[in-house]
Amino acid sequence: MIPNDANQSSTPVQPDLMSNGTAQAGAAPHQSFKLTKGLFITFEGGEGAGKTTQASRLANRLKELGLDAQLAREPGGTALGEQIRSIVKRDTRIGTAAETLLFVAARAQLVSELVKPRLRRKSIVIVDRFVDSTIAYQGYGRGMKMEHIATLNQIATGGLTPDLTVLLDADPNVTLSRVETTPTLIDDSTIKGERSGDRADERKFEREPLSFHEKVRQGYQELARDGKRWCVIRADQAQHRVADAIWKRVRPLLIERGADAEPLTRKQGVSSE
Ligand code: TMP
Repeated sequence: MIPNDANQSSTPVQPDLMSNGTAQAGAAPHQSFKLTKGLFITFEGGEGAGKTTQASRLANRLKELGLDAQLAREPGGTALGEQIRSIVKRDTRIGTAAETLLFVAARAQLVSELVKPRLRRKSIVIVDRFVDSTIAYQGYGRGMKMEHIATLNQIATGGLTPDLTVLLDADPNVTLSRVETTPTLIDDSTIKGERSGDRADERKFEREPLSFHEKVRQGYQELARDGKRWCVIRADQAQHRVADAIWKRVRPLLIERGADAEPLTRKQGVSSE
């Protein structure tokens, strides 16, 4: 039931995001099983690190296993969140405090409307960015007081913490040049997943100086040193290797929650991280 090899995931890997920034990865009709409790996974990383591709890939993999999984993005995932997204990614006049409050407002709505109800129903919820993005971007990147961010995150989430946070760690020198020289990442609204619905002018953060992105990266690295919920993966590897490394961390969490452990005894290659 739970294979070792993430390569078995079929393409395409990115499901369409719906207009509210979510993608249902629901139970396949031929097989379906409930976990004994919900599973909450978040993806983090700098611009162009590939987290959205990997989040989508994981959601598809879970769907193929007949699991009820929901993928959402931040800011977004709700009608309010998507409106906030289009403002906050574009408007360069927004100050740091207002920007932080907008991200947190989007989060509060996502948590109450989608994340908590789904987890109560023992579903898997995957969110592309969560509390750590605010700490890394507004805290480390913009210098917002960490205790203020902690308070706001607490208000938005009620203390809800992911079971697993995947950090795709990449050198912004490399990823930013990729984003900058690949206009279709931004401009082509037909591209599914990460950039779905984003407009060409929604690249405020990508245009921040390199020093900002270096601070964000350093922030993530410091956060990830802190706890066992983190899984840090180098993003400069082939996508299937990144997916394998993520799967290696997700699989035991599924088994802990009642998924079939039998395939774990089979010898199949899991690429090293
Ligand atoms: P992305 O989801 O396409 O990466 O776009 C979201 C952008 O918003 C990204 O540049 C990171 C930024 N962001 C913050 O600065 N703080 C936050 O709390 C969140 C969720 C995102």
